[in-house]
Amino acid sequence: MKKTTVFLLAGIVLFCMAVAAGLLLRTEQKDESNGTIKIGVAIYYGDDTFISNVTNSLSDIVAKYEQETGVRLYLGTADAQGKQETQNNQIERFLALDYDVLAVNLVDRTNAAYIIDKAMAKNVPVIFFNREPVQADLQKWDRLCYIGTDAVENGRLEGSIVVDAYHADRAALDKNGDGILQYIMIEGEIRHQDAVIRTEESIQAIRDAGIAVEKLDGGIADWERSQAAALAEQYFREYGDQIEVIICNNDDMALGVIDTIDRLGLDFRSVVGIDGTPQGLKAVQEGRMLGTVVIDYQAHAELIFQAAYALATGQRAEDVMQVGQDRSIRAPMYVVKSE
Ligand code: BGC
Repeated sequence: MKKTTVFLLAGIVLFCMAVAAGLLLRTEQKDESNGTIKIGVAIYYGDDTFISNVTNSLSDIVAKYEQETGVRLYLGTADAQGKQETQNNQIERFLALDYDVLAVNLVDRTNAAYIIDKAMAKNVPVIFFNREPVQADLQKWDRLCYIGTDAVENGRLEGSIVVDAYHADRAALDKNGDGILQYIMIEGEIRHQDAVIRTEESIQAIRDAGIAVEKLDGGIADWERSQAAALAEQYFREYGDQIEVIICNNDDMALGVIDTIDRLGLDFRSVVGIDGTPQGLKAVQEGRMLGTVVIDYQAHAELIFQAAYALATGQRAEDVMQVGQDRSIRAPMYVVKSE
């Protein structure tokens, strides 16, 4: 009697689980018969301005492509909220749901191997973007690639904005006339390749142009506007008029510096950034920033889509675009300066 009840209960539980799984699969899994291509996008942090510009642009591109060609596409996105463990689970879920290709914006760029192993086991190609895995990981498989900008060029172009402003109006930049540019550096995340390289190269480009520099101070603001605003407040209070230029690894942090300039009622315009976000470009147009290096986020998203589509349809990324020896595809960039 007892045994029968247990079997009955177990049966009911199993039945419910099967129904639930079936429902889940029906809504989320690829329907083989209609040939939908499923692209799984995993991002490190949804609040990041640059990343959300890229992902929004990617959904527009996908929608347009579907409309124009009739090819059925499904874009699933997952935000890790800055936690690698969450992202690992999200990737496993995409794989369990038979996604055809993954586009991954790693939380921790040294964690690629874990994701690559899981994806390789299911023969699902992976495009990493914006947060670059190390070469040893990227070279593991020819169905992997990286899409990002060239951080050396980002940094050098940012430096060139300062050099041009210096040549155009030396007195406006070298305010104390000592022939040395006293600067503050505001950096992105400590382990992000773009932050480290942009910091070095922007300064190197200024030095290479024959301009002497002196670092007054600097700090890490994790790409975030509010953190940069707080740092800038501290620096303006400590160094005041000694500050001649503030170099930021991205536009959001430059905008944070400008927030502080406004709050303190200062007239300081020698701020530079990178990204060319709509808000960054507006600040440049209004003359509140010397300039920015525009990383074309639409072109960035277009490259991700082209690579994803090629890989999901059995082609290689190199069949449709230029892929370097290092398995990277570089998105274009250009400078925009204030008048
Ligand atoms: C962008 C930053 C962004 C970061 C996120 C950088 O390449 O310039 O704006 O916050 O990537 O990983």
